[in-house]
Amino acid sequence: MEKIKQKVQELLENSKNLQEVLDIKTKYLGKKGIINDFNNKLRGLEGAEKKEFGMKLNELKKGIIKILEDKIKFYEEKELNDKLTKESIDITLPATKITNGSANILEKLVEEVEEVCMSLGFDVVDGPEVEEDHYNFELLNIPKDHPARDAQDTFYIKDNEILLRSQTSPVQVRTMIKAGGNSPVRIICPGKTYRRDEDDATHSHQFMQIEGLLVDKNVSLSDLKGTIDIIFKHLFGETCETRFRPSYYQFTEPSVEVDITCFNCKGKGCNICKNTGFITVAGAGIVHPNVLSNCGYDPSIWTGFAFGFGAERLAMLKYNINDIRTFYQTDLRETNIFDRREKN
Ligand code: DAH
Repeated sequence: MEKIKQKVQELLENSKNLQEVLDIKTKYLGKKGIINDFNNKLRGLEGAEKKEFGMKLNELKKGIIKILEDKIKFYEEKELNDKLTKESIDITLPATKITNGSANILEKLVEEVEEVCMSLGFDVVDGPEVEEDHYNFELLNIPKDHPARDAQDTFYIKDNEILLRSQTSPVQVRTMIKAGGNSPVRIICPGKTYRRDEDDATHSHQFMQIEGLLVDKNVSLSDLKGTIDIIFKHLFGETCETRFRPSYYQFTEPSVEVDITCFNCKGKGCNICKNTGFITVAGAGIVHPNVLSNCGYDPSIWTGFAFGFGAERLAMLKYNINDIRTFYQTDLRETNIFDRREKN
């Protein structure tokens, strides 16, 4: 028995891997193994002899199990360590850059305007991009053949009646008609508009406007001024001042052009504001009585203000983008740095 144990010990010492150890285990402890032969021998013995043989056999078995288990554990640990070493990550390698998407800068600006207007109680509404001449011009006090149409070189789709809207103002008309002439209206409408412009750094045949309309009783220019002021302070910071200049639109009377203090020079004068200290950002005014009555509102009872601005122009100013085509060409070299610009 002693020799057997020594033999096992020797075999284990010479083993090279776990499988060899497992084979030794089967050879000695398996059903047809050497130890089992001793069990058979034990059955043939009797009395004290059997007792002594049994005890020794038990001891041998325990001893062999112990050294086998130790060796198995040794190889298992070794295998695990080898695996860990092989699979270890070299943290000194340069990392693969994971690029994150970011919100479209134009959408972001529109959302900012929506946010501040909603906080003032405005609803955000939508309107069709393929529009009728009736809504895009006539009800807005711009009859057929009126020279004011020239300013908006329009894409006509069918018989001078169906067109791609050249402004978001038809949404004012649709909203007022829907409201039925007897309840206040407070909406903004951001949306795509189209004009037959040659595309260049500041013009695009498709661009985005944000239209605002408020109809109620006793609405004045100062309400318009206050509202516009809040919107632009929200976009360009508390130091941003707004200024009204007289202007002309068919659908508002009086009409104004809205300027804000140049965010670059803070009003001192620079090349962005052409040394005026101000930048023009919107058209606006008090809704023309003809437009109110065209849309079912009695102008002797109701008054309103409206405004419209170009979203790209605002985004270009805010994020220092100098070509309007940037928004539509999805050049990643440009769009990838929008986020960085915003943080600056
Ligand atoms: N629709 C005008 C344009 O496209 C912008 C505008 C001016 C909208 C004055 C308005 C407004 O609602 O009151 O040039």
